[in-house]
Amino acid sequence: MNKVSKIEKRFILAPMTRCISKINGCPSKQLGKFYVDQVKNGLTTIITESCAVNGEDARGYLNGSQFFNDQHAKSWAPIINQVHKHGGKIFIQLFHSGRLTVKKITNCNPISASALEPSEVPSFWRPLFDQKIVHFQTMTKFEKPKKVSLGKIRKIINQFRRSSELAKNVGFDGVEIHGAHGYLVHSFSTFDANQRKDIYNSKSNLFSSELIEECKSVLGKTLLSYRISLHTVDNPYAKYSKDIYNIPSLIKALDKAGVDIFHCSEVKAGENMFGSNESLLELVRKNTKKKIITCGGIDTLEKIKRLDKKGADYFAFGRSALSNRDLVKKIISKKRLIKFEYEKHFYETRN
Ligand SMILES: Cc1cc2nc3c(=O)[nH]c(=O)nc-3n(C[C@H](O)[C@H](O)[C@H](O)COP(=O)(O)O)c2cc1C
Repeated sequence: MNKVSKIEKRFILAPMTRCISKINGCPSKQLGKFYVDQVKNGLTTIITESCAVNGEDARGYLNGSQFFNDQHAKSWAPIINQVHKHGGKIFIQLFHSGRLTVKKITNCNPISASALEPSEVPSFWRPLFDQKIVHFQTMTKFEKPKKVSLGKIRKIINQFRRSSELAKNVGFDGVEIHGAHGYLVHSFSTFDANQRKDIYNSKSNLFSSELIEECKSVLGKTLLSYRISLHTVDNPYAKYSKDIYNIPSLIKALDKAGVDIFHCSEVKAGENMFGSNESLLELVRKNTKKKIITCGGIDTLEKIKRLDKKGADYFAFGRSALSNRDLVKKIISKKRLIKFEYEKHFYETRN
């Protein structure tokens, strides 16, 4: 096998919320087909879109996926089978939307580590309204969340464990915990969102560690991935500061707690974080020997080779997989990719 065909075995689909699931949170036929097609087109592993771990306060999007009961689990079985039939693997991403939800569409009240509102900086990810970051489906501002009680923390950790167990039993190859982009799990790790003084303060890493230990206890050999980012939905320009977000300490704690794979979500994979002279990928690589997925604007074979040198094991593609059916072939044959058009996509998912 030559070097190029080896590298394409490490190409995977990044998690992307498509907002085309059924209202009960089960995947639609269209969503299932999307995942199976990605494997047929050469991506070796699928990470599903974020799936809410409860129906009370974890949902972030209208027509987003949910994964916490037998009906949800059963609905994924044919998709898992098809992915396996075509030689692929599939991980389910589990999430709690935290403070990044809007009650009008999800009927969920925003909750977070502390009662602190999300940032309001203009974003290059999302549509803007009045130069403010808004929820892309409602075009309204995010509201002030309620601080999560200790009892509720226990309940949410148990919900992640229950969803992990369901995922293992229905045949997913792995579970990914969404610890990125400012949703609930991420909010516990940064002082910007977590100003608690109890044991779940931002420096303790306790929320994420307990969550990982609980999920790992039911997963056995089924793999456990943890997605991490510096940037958030509400602040794509977040600057790295160890005092605010101690990434080395978090990675070490999660490595010990049982994470098998770290998934680095960056605006531009492998490029320096704002406020730092190293990338998230490099910082994570320095602090763990576990496998690493890198993601963010990966569009050429040259870039992939550079990321490989920086210590990445797998390369995840997001928007480019939506706009290029023959993505893997194009990357390998060094062809230019078709650019993803945000407005078109948001229009399709709003209507
Ligand atoms: C439409 C859309 C939906 C997304 N949904 C999720 C999600 O459910 N979970 C997640 O971790 N990241 C999500 N992301 C972020 C992507 O996984 C990825 O990190 C980002 O698009 C950057 O990679 P890219 O440049 O290859 O697109 C989403 C991105 C897009 C464009």
